Amino acid sequence: MTDSSVTRRQVLAGAGGAGLLAAAGPVAVLGSARPPARRAGASADGTPEQIHLTWGADPATSVTVSWASPGEATAPRVQLSRGGGYGRTIPAVQRTYTDGINGETVWTYHAEISGLAPDTGYSYTVTADNDSSAQPFAATFTTAPLGRAPFRFTSFGDLATPNTQWVLSYGQSACAVAAVESFKPLFHLLNGDLCYGDLNPTTQPEVWRDFGNNNQTSAANRAWMPCPGNHEVEFGNGPQGFTSYLTRYLLPDNGVPWFRGRWYSFRVGSVLFVSLDADDVVYQDAGAFVAGPDPLAPVAGTGNPPIEPGTSFYIRGYSGGAQTAWLERTLASARSDPSIDWIIAQMHQIACSSSVIGNGSDLGIRQEWLPLFDRYQVDVVLNGHDHDYERSFPCRGFDNLVGTEVATGAPVQTMRPHPVTTEDTGVFDTSRGTVHLVLGCGGTDANLDEYGVDTADGVPQAKVFTRPNRPVLSSTPEEYDRPAADAVEDAAWSAKRDTSTGYGIAVFDVDPGAPDGMTSIRVTQYHALGADPVNPATGEPGAPTPNYTEFETFTLVRPRSDRFGGIGGAPERSPVTARSAD
Ligand SMILES: [Fe+2]
Repeated sequence: MTDSSVTRRQVLAGAGGAGLLAAAGPVAVLGSARPPARRAGASADGTPEQIHLTWGADPATSVTVSWASPGEATAPRVQLSRGGGYGRTIPAVQRTYTDGINGETVWTYHAEISGLAPDTGYSYTVTADNDSSAQPFAATFTTAPLGRAPFRFTSFGDLATPNTQWVLSYGQSACAVAAVESFKPLFHLLNGDLCYGDLNPTTQPEVWRDFGNNNQTSAANRAWMPCPGNHEVEFGNGPQGFTSYLTRYLLPDNGVPWFRGRWYSFRVGSVLFVSLDADDVVYQDAGAFVAGPDPLAPVAGTGNPPIEPGTSFYIRGYSGGAQTAWLERTLASARSDPSIDWIIAQMHQIACSSSVIGNGSDLGIRQEWLPLFDRYQVDVVLNGHDHDYERSFPCRGFDNLVGTEVATGAPVQTMRPHPVTTEDTGVFDTSRGTVHLVLGCGGTDANLDEYGVDTADGVPQAKVFTRPNRPVLSSTPEEYDRPAADAVEDAAWSAKRDTSTGYGIAVFDVDPGAPDGMTSIRVTQYHALGADPVNPATGEPGAPTPNYTEFETFTLVRPRSDRFGGIGGAPERSPVTARSAD
């Protein structure tokens, strides 16, 4: 087939939701908007674009400035200054890749700045000798505070781009970036499914470019810390499909050979942030997928063969346990450190989601990582993946054998997370249980804010993947589908679901508290009422909106780890056991 014969149905199949598949219709994916492939040389355009910041190894003293340019940059560099005085130049390193589907070369640059002063504002410019802009790009950032100090961060996932030429892109993506800026966080956590390049397979670099330029409005002013989602897995781009993601971000080193950038941790104040790649442990198959009837044909220059219908890029288990081993080492170290109070995990796919038109929950996370979260008292898990907002009660351990296989009605093990309370008091002690937040509410065009209900008793119900859902032939000849989750459970852990919109942003204010006392995090979810393209409850059409209003506020508390001379925060080391069903 030709590049332009990729159909909307084909690319949408990668999103995993049956509701998305219904939005079928042909679209051209290689059009006149596609810029020509760019080459190095005397005429190369080294003008910086897609400028974004990430933390270095220590957010109090190190920041990385990253960007891309249309062609190869000559002498790419950052000029840093503080208070309009002392300045220094930091040369950037170049990292490139050639897209495995359309053969375009992408030029990226990374300037690692260290030796900064904590809690201090800096100005910087980004330029190159072949920068064609009238003035170098200029912005400011602030480093993290040292020690126990108050700070704010924000989070959402599933952002996409404002360019509606691309599958899953939507104008709310620009409003979401503006929302981050309006709350002025120290940094932002972007919980995977960044731009959906894989759903626009013949134009992946162009989608990333629109994503980067949209984010620049905020990400040039404060660190945006990402994790990979299923849609960062791209055909033709590396062993796990992460080449575009890994080339564009230079993330803190996890010290694990061969796997830098896929998972990492960083510390701000008394909080350890742990960013994970759940693609490594989930059962669900939701990466790049060719639905058919035609194969996906890379351009000849890539040397890559056509990808046959029914092929998906399934990478469960790719690290061979290296990520989970790193996670346990990292959590154990943090919980033995009396200067760390909070552990907050970021990952894309979800242990606790009851979206009925989205993906749902995944047993793989519950098996591999929730026992570690219990053992080391991980306080909060931030997710994306389902385009809605859902909050769990604090959970510890699991309820044994309370799931039901969809096909047969037989009991099935879903390791349902056990809520330590089902009283929605607004204040939760996370030393007693982990709170899960679904924040896939960034800016895609597919809101998924419709949630499961057990028709027998009216309680929330969740779909759960307990085994791989590899592609199968659909009812349409020569076309493939990936089945939905194979099990359901009553979602006893579900505390709050936003049924009014699939769009929002979570704002977290960390209060370190007093010595020998409690520390707290005040969390407010703001939502964008009216932004759903179609409201699932009313059928009413909506449109992108810049107006984010409060949906709910709650407070997380836990004893400080320096309480009673440093032993107050130590976790219980008792083994995690299954509980009987409520
Ligand atoms: Fe996802």
